[in-house]
Amino acid sequence: RAFLYRLWKGNVSSRMLNPRLQKAMRDYVAANKHGVRFRGPREARRSRAELLCELRRRGRVRTLDGTEAPFSALGWRPLVPAVPLGQLHPRGLRSCAVVMSAGAILNSSLGQEIDSHDAVLRFNSAPTRGYEKDVGNKTTVRIINSQILTNPSHHFIDSSLYKDVILVAWDPAPYSANLNLWYKKPDYNLFTPYIQHRQKNPTQPFYILHPKFIWQLWDIIQENTKEKIQPNPPSSGFIGILIMMSMCKEVHVYEYIPSIRQTELCHYHELYYDAACTLGAYHPLLYEKLLVQRLNTGTQADLHRKGKVVLPGFRALRC
Ligand code: C5P
Repeated sequence: RAFLYRLWKGNVSSRMLNPRLQKAMRDYVAANKHGVRFRGPREARRSRAELLCELRRRGRVRTLDGTEAPFSALGWRPLVPAVPLGQLHPRGLRSCAVVMSAGAILNSSLGQEIDSHDAVLRFNSAPTRGYEKDVGNKTTVRIINSQILTNPSHHFIDSSLYKDVILVAWDPAPYSANLNLWYKKPDYNLFTPYIQHRQKNPTQPFYILHPKFIWQLWDIIQENTKEKIQPNPPSSGFIGILIMMSMCKEVHVYEYIPSIRQTELCHYHELYYDAACTLGAYHPLLYEKLLVQRLNTGTQADLHRKGKVVLPGFRALRC
């Protein structure tokens, strides 16, 4: 539990992780699979207010709009939704929830509180059915990684999880964010199922995140971290937090920074144990969490008991 108490205070480093996770992190740094070349400064000691304004300036959500090569020539302009993600709620949402899939949310009884928000964001295949008491049942936005679209076991085409919600998909692209390279060699080919889904369900808002947005977030995490972080994209959790900060006046994040219920159970909906789910191996998750901890405006009691962090939305900032 000592680690948890230090995490709540923002006072941890990767050296406090177990040796297996430390080795995994080192191996990812050595592999540098996405060709990251970071040139910026590290550990800018920004204040909370400066950090928030930096996120607003450089962390604005961007999705593929079909105007850039190769997508322009492939006829994506009319394929993507006519209304951009940022304009779906032009007057902005008041209060929003981001519900992490962590096992620690089990037995939280947070369902009612989560559903009381104007919009709720969930991840990948995280269900609500059967878990309503702890996670609620409202879903407004669902972020899905490219494996959800390509792995038949997720039944992307017919599962009700992916209907009647705003869908936002992403796939790790090269750090250069060269769209031609990415299109030729995505991590998982999300482009074909995206086209098919758009043609079959033209009225459902469904976006693909722009690689520049994802790597911009990575840059901000690295700039504000002393250690060398994993050269891999931030987790869906961090991406989801930023999407809601763009759309809402206030964002309540549940079980990202773990509560007192912290567990090695990876997901609340799956019997699988791995500390890497909470602390990161591939994703720079520990560093994302330290950054979010620095931005928290909620109470310590909510952090400990609910695993809840409260963040201002971008429109609530005066920069
Ligand atoms: O595993 P998955 O990516 O679907 O989970 C959604 C997000 O929830 C992760 O990207 C991560 O940010 C967060 N998460 C967490 N701790 C866990 C499981 C998930 O912080 N144990």
